[in-house]
Amino acid sequence: MPATSLDQVVSLAKRRGFIFPSSEIYGGLQGVFDYGPLGVELKNNIMQDWWRANVYERDDMEGLDAAILMNRLVWKYSGHEETFVDPMVDCRNCKSRWRADQIHGQCPNCGSADLTEPRPFNMMFKTAVGPIADADAFAYLRPETAQGIFVNFANVLSTTSRKLPFGIAQIGKGFRNEINPRNFLFRVREFDMLEIEYFVMPGTEDEWHQRWLDDRLRWWASIGVSRERIQVYDVPKADLAHYSKRTFDLMYNYPTLGYQEIEGIASRSDFDLGSHSKDQDSLGLSARVSPNSHSTTRLTYFDPTSNKHVVPFVVEPSAGVGRCFLAVLCEAYDEQMVKPPADEKLAAVSDALAAYLKSAGKSEKISAEAREALVARGEAIATDLPSALPQVESLLAMVGADQIELGKKLRGQAQPLTDEHFRTVLHLRPRLAPIKAAVFPLKRNHEGLVSLAKGIRKSLQSGGRMRAVYDDTGAIGKLYRRQDEIGTPFCLTVDFQSLEDQTVTVRDRDTMAQERVLVAELQGYLEERLV
Ligand code: GAP
Repeated sequence: MPATSLDQVVSLAKRRGFIFPSSEIYGGLQGVFDYGPLGVELKNNIMQDWWRANVYERDDMEGLDAAILMNRLVWKYSGHEETFVDPMVDCRNCKSRWRADQIHGQCPNCGSADLTEPRPFNMMFKTAVGPIADADAFAYLRPETAQGIFVNFANVLSTTSRKLPFGIAQIGKGFRNEINPRNFLFRVREFDMLEIEYFVMPGTEDEWHQRWLDDRLRWWASIGVSRERIQVYDVPKADLAHYSKRTFDLMYNYPTLGYQEIEGIASRSDFDLGSHSKDQDSLGLSARVSPNSHSTTRLTYFDPTSNKHVVPFVVEPSAGVGRCFLAVLCEAYDEQMVKPPADEKLAAVSDALAAYLKSAGKSEKISAEAREALVARGEAIATDLPSALPQVESLLAMVGADQIELGKKLRGQAQPLTDEHFRTVLHLRPRLAPIKAAVFPLKRNHEGLVSLAKGIRKSLQSGGRMRAVYDDTGAIGKLYRRQDEIGTPFCLTVDFQSLEDQTVTVRDRDTMAQERVLVAELQGYLEERLV
């Protein structure tokens, strides 16, 4: 079963080194996160999978890696200087600052309705290029990678001799000075983007828009993001971005957050190439664009069938890697009962939980909001025992939970039972897993076992085809649990039989089934299963 609350995934991601708050030792930086040793592997695997599916496995795509810093004029003519704004309000009472469209007329911090009128806030980060910070040095950190593709359209076309339809894919950082970054990786100020600009003959854009929608849904399913938890939202005309003719937003049902945008697939007409083009008046553009007096290039395509120059229309699938990363973790997350706990031990947890909730419900030490959230979550756990037993830990990590004295007692009852009867497992697609294989010697002080295990790890990892680790820091059962929790699909144990017949035990993460495989055949055995 996937995660039922975002806290479960946040807690695992922090505990196991997927994600760290940026510059944590100095108190962090709001809305910015670092990917730790496991996080960087998972993130890279997701990005590689997207690139493989959208560039290598298609005949109609090229790749690009444009710079983050661009000429300021790009953002003038893209419309971002004028329109990349969110409405911002200030609370006159507590001086906090909010996005007006997210707070329903009341300050979420202090509850006051004494708010300023909304005013536009441009979300692009500003910087200066070069040693003299004058007007000529002014630049932005790009808020999307898309513009790097549009302004390179003529370069890519002339160097690849592509015919329409074709697309350009790009993965790279985007920066947005979000007014209220929140919900872990969901809304941040620096993030990686997966963007495609697909150029088509005018008149064929609706067909291609639908084809990209189908294609993208197939990709999400292929990386384990269930189709049942994605809704396609056909954005109403009144809510469309300035460049869009029609947009499908893919809304993923994140635990705790509910349906939220994970990818936008926009039909952008000839707005982008038209906006960045010179001689706009002669192009017969269908989109309304601002007059461009700076561009040096006509961004057109010569159509050999009609013998005419046309401005291609654009279909744009655009997703954020962080939201994808979060969805993949939520989908893969599972707390599985390995064997049911004894009734009397469970009753002791029930009693401790009831006492804790009673105390939390009356506590003056925490805010009413925190109290309500804590009690609601605790009651949900109480009605779903024993299967919700592992969730006690994330209950105790909630805001204000540490202020309730009976928390220690509850943890003391719940934790040993959880450790004994449950395993947390990430059922990641094996090809996405940060670590593909973990190798253990049955005894860590036996020279022969240790050297064979280390040799296996080294040979699996050499050639760069998979990340493998060696671990001898606990009993085998504990080592299995540790790897299950980070989604390692295969654990390999080297035992005394291995020294005789050159086989090892391979244990499957999902089924927990074990089989013996010849060391010489391990590489092929694993690669066949890393799908
Ligand atoms: N070029 C089109 C474009 O940038 P967008 O809807 O603004 O469209 C695309 O952004 C995707 O980037 C979103 O669907 C979302 O997945 C991700 N995204 C946008 N803002 C984000 C933020 N502040 N934090 C994390 N991801 C974000």
